[in-house]
Amino acid sequence: MPYDFDTVIDRRHTNSAKWDVKPGELPMWIADMDFQTAPEITAALKQRAAFGIFGYEEIPTEYYEAVADWWATEHHFRPQIDWLMFCTGVVPAISSIVRKMTAPGDNILVQAPVYNMFYHSIENNGRHTLSSDLVERDGQYTIDFDDLAQKMAEPLTTMMILCNPQNPIGIVWSRADLQRIGELALKHHVLVLADEIHCDLTLNDHDYTPFSSLSADVAANSISCISPSKTFNVAALHAATLIMPAQAIRERVSRAINNDELAEPNSFAIPGSLAAYRDGHAWVAELRTKIAANQRQLQTFVADNLPAVKVIEAQATYLIWLDISQVAADASDLADFIRAKTGLFLSAGDVYRGDGQHFLRINIACPTAELTDGLQRLQAGIEAYMTQN
Ligand SMILES: Cc1ncc(COP(=O)(O)O)c(C=O)c1O
Repeated sequence: MPYDFDTVIDRRHTNSAKWDVKPGELPMWIADMDFQTAPEITAALKQRAAFGIFGYEEIPTEYYEAVADWWATEHHFRPQIDWLMFCTGVVPAISSIVRKMTAPGDNILVQAPVYNMFYHSIENNGRHTLSSDLVERDGQYTIDFDDLAQKMAEPLTTMMILCNPQNPIGIVWSRADLQRIGELALKHHVLVLADEIHCDLTLNDHDYTPFSSLSADVAANSISCISPSKTFNVAALHAATLIMPAQAIRERVSRAINNDELAEPNSFAIPGSLAAYRDGHAWVAELRTKIAANQRQLQTFVADNLPAVKVIEAQATYLIWLDISQVAADASDLADFIRAKTGLFLSAGDVYRGDGQHFLRINIACPTAELTDGLQRLQAGIEAYMTQN
């Protein structure tokens, strides 16, 4: 069935965090898509609403079976049912796990530039961020494994938060890289927390490797976070799943998730997730095609019209990392200028740290008409900035 990814829907005045903007502005920042979710999910939610009773709920086994079946079909790996634990969001789970599995003052390792909420979960809980920054050369980012090993070996480093696929750059880490990270973590007694929320949105046949599918010893030292929220644009359903192959970790994390009251679903989380994981395969396949087409449109537009900007090719996600180092010294300054001049609202890369001050992040999960508008505003903003400076 052909799904609709091209109707422009007015999201203003709908309590949308993304669209809480001034008249005429075009938000292409937060990771939220301007597409309606799969109709299969909407139908399930309508059915649940029609039932009309919204009392306390439990997680049925069929939820975990649907998660495991989705992974088996989409990612060729079926996690065991007893490894899985429902929770009400990935970021709340990360904060809760940080509090339970590390001590105040510990180092938590990340690979900047990376999703900014990791820093909040670490630092708002009194831990230190230690980054083994990714290294960029000619538009390709790689891991400096010597640096990573050195930082893992520091006695106060007790956890690493890994982002795979990586936000904001869109890297899909290879099985070999992940296994190497996992072995280093084991050697240095560092627990790996793998945020895999973007794993369903791989592009152009790039293959995502679930961390829990690595060798048994490496997998046993990990917690992975997955969710239908990015894949199906259902962030406000507040449904996520933790994958934990080791029983000892499961027991401790269960205490954390329950103590922090993150274990109970709202009335729409389970029916929405079941519909997504059981009936959403065709919709996601079309979504991936649409995002890949949008990425090509952006690449062509920038190559033709904005020679000072370099597009980093995303292997996954609908977030594109734009190198603006030849345009501005400070991404925030440029983002503010573009917004004031054209109304286009992008994410300035500095919040992701690392080399982020040289980058803007643009969200391209939108209908073609909106993307075309956004690209024209980007061109107008950058040309005006270059003329002024
Ligand atoms: C890497 C990553 N993790 C987590 C989240 C948010 O997860 P949740 O809404 O389940 O807290 C996002 C949202 O953009 C993200 O990019």
